[in-house]
Amino acid sequence: MDGTIGGDLTARARAHSNIALAKYWGKRDATLNVPAVGSISITLDALHTDTTVSFDTGLADDELWLDGREQPVGKVAVVLDLVRERAGLDLRARVVSENNFPTGAGLASSASGFAALAVAATAAAGIEATPRESSVLARRGSASAARSIFGGYAELHAGSSPDGSDSFAEPLLEGEAWPLSVVVAITDPGPKTVSSTAGMQATSASSPFYRPWVESAPAGLDRMRAAILAHDLETVGELAEHSCLALHSIMLTTRPALIYWNAATVAGIHAVRALRAGGLPVYFTIDAGPQLKALCRPEDAAAVSAALAAIPGVAETRTSTLGPAARVVSKS
Ligand code: ADP
Ligand code: DP6
Ligand code: CO
Repeated sequence: MDGTIGGDLTARARAHSNIALAKYWGKRDATLNVPAVGSISITLDALHTDTTVSFDTGLADDELWLDGREQPVGKVAVVLDLVRERAGLDLRARVVSENNFPTGAGLASSASGFAALAVAATAAAGIEATPRESSVLARRGSASAARSIFGGYAELHAGSSPDGSDSFAEPLLEGEAWPLSVVVAITDPGPKTVSSTAGMQATSASSPFYRPWVESAPAGLDRMRAAILAHDLETVGELAEHSCLALHSIMLTTRPALIYWNAATVAGIHAVRALRAGGLPVYFTIDAGPQLKALCRPEDAAAVSAALAAIPGVAETRTSTLGPAARVVSKS
C-alpha cells in the first residue's frame, strides 16, 4: 500500500509474444473478436511485454502509456470494461506498458500486450481468473493474445458458441518437453501500415481464396497438433511453412493487396531453404510484417543466426527459446 486512496489497486504482469505455426487470419465475430479458424503457436522467451495496471480514484478516463508515450486506449478499454464488470468496480485505470521489441511490426506485440493486460488488470481488480478465463479475456483485445496466456506450445480453438466463450487457448505441450529455438530476423522495426485487424477484415471481404483458407484450416490444425505431439520437426516445419505461405497467398490476393514482405524477407526465405538443402533442419515462418522467424533445434541456432544476420537488409537477429506463461510479477 502506498497510502494514497485507491493506490493499492495496482498489479504488474509479464507476458511473452508467440508465433503461430498454424496461423489464424479472419474473424467469425468481429465484435467479440472470435477467430474464424483455430491456430497453434509457440511462446517466445526473448520477446515480452511488461504491463502495470492501476485502478485509481483520481482518473476521469482510462489511460494507456506504451513505451513511454500516451496512446489512444482502443481495445484496452474493452478488456478493462470486462474486468470492471466482473469485479463490480467503477474506477478508471492507468495502463503503463513496455514491449522489449518493436510494436506493431509483425512480432505479435498485440499478443504479449493483451495477455499482460488481461493478467495485470484482473490482479489489480482483486479478482481471480482461471487461465482459461484469462485466455478468453485476452482474446477480446487480440486473438493471438489468447495463446500468450500459456507457455510452450498452445492451441487457440475457434469455438462455435455465439458468445465466444468456447474460443480459448489451452496448452498443447510444455516447452521443456520439446525445446526448440526461434531465430527472429528483424528486417524493419517500423510499424506496419495496415494493422492485423484491418488487414484480415480486407482479406475476408475480397480475397477469392479466403473461403478455401477457412475450409482447409481444421485439417491443417489436426496435422500440426499430431506432429507437435510426436516431436517431429520435419513435419512441423513443412506444415508451418505451408501455413505461412497460404496465409501470405490470401494477403497477396486481397484488394488492395497486402504485401507485408520486403526484399530481405524474401532473401531470408531462400537462405533458410539453402541451409536446409545443406542438411540443417530449419524452417521459416512470417506473420503480418516483414520479419522472418526461423524454427530450428537449439544446437543449430547459432549457425542459423549467422546465416540470417549476413543477409543485406537484416538489421538484427534475436534468438529465443520457448517461453513461459503470462504471470503477475508484483501486486500492491
Ligand atoms: P503486431 O504484429 O505487433 O501484433 P498488430 O497490428 O496485431 O501488430 O497490433 C498492434 C497493436 O497492438 C498496437 O498498435 C497497439 O494498439 C496494440 N499493442 C501493442 N503492444 C501493446 C501493449 N503492450 N499494450 C497494449 N496494446 C498493445
Ligand atoms: C498473422 O491476433 O494480431 O500473426 O485479433 O485483430 O488483434 P487481432 O489480430 P492478431 O492477428 C495475428 C495474425 C497472425 C497469425 C497468428 O498469430 O495466428
Ligand atoms: Co497482432
